[in-house]
Amino acid sequence: MMWVFDAYGTLWNVSRIEAAVQRAQVPDSARFLSLWRQKQLEYAFLRTVMGDYAPFSTVTQDALEYCLAVFGIAMSPLDQDALLHAWFHPQAFEDAHEFLQSLEGEQRWILSNGDPAMLAAGVEATRWQDCLEGWISVDQARRYKPHPDAYRLVAETTKASLEDVIFVSSNGWDVAGATRFGFRTIWVNRRGTPPDRLGVNPWRVVRSLSDLHGGRR
Ligand code: LAC
Repeated sequence: MMWVFDAYGTLWNVSRIEAAVQRAQVPDSARFLSLWRQKQLEYAFLRTVMGDYAPFSTVTQDALEYCLAVFGIAMSPLDQDALLHAWFHPQAFEDAHEFLQSLEGEQRWILSNGDPAMLAAGVEATRWQDCLEGWISVDQARRYKPHPDAYRLVAETTKASLEDVIFVSSNGWDVAGATRFGFRTIWVNRRGTPPDRLGVNPWRVVRSLSDLHGGRR
C-alpha cells in the first residue's frame, strides 16, 4: 500500500504562520491570514488554468503583497520575509507524526503544491526524514493540484499503480482532484466543514489522522 499525503493543513499546521502574522501586528490577523491563504491557493489554481507557472513560494509572496495592499499595510521587505519564512518552518500536527510512524513498513510520501525548497525545509523542520520514503513537489509538472498532471507525478516517481494509492488530504479541493484522478481518498476534515460540491466523494472521511488508527484499511 502506498500512502500519499498532502502537506499544508494535512500533516503540517499553520500555527507558526499564524504566530508570525500576529507578531507582525497586523490588525485583524485572523482575517488577514485567511485572505492570504485563500489568495495563495487562488493564484496557484489560476496560474495553472492560465497555462502559467510560478513556484509556490512566489505565489505565496504575491498573495501576501495583495493582502497587504487590501489591508493598506506598508510592511518592510524584512518583515515580509519573516512571514514567508514561516511557510518553510511548519509545525507537524500532533496526530501526524504518530500516524506516519504507525505506517512503518508501508510506503509514505508527500505530494504537495509546495516547491522543492519549501518541502525540503518542512521535512527537516519536522525531522521526518525517517518517517517518509520521500516527497514529491508539483514543481516537476509545473501544474498545481488539483490538475491531473500533478497527481500523475505519484506514479511517475514511485511506479505505484493507481489502485495501490491511498491519498490523504484535509483540503476538499485536493480530495476532489485526487478522487477524480482515480486515487482512493481520505478526507481529514479537521475543521468540520461541509463537503465541497465538486461531483465526487472521498472514499472515507475522518476528523483527524488518529481516527485512522487500527482500522486504517
Ligand atoms: C499542499 C497544500 C497547498 O499541497 O495543501 O501541501
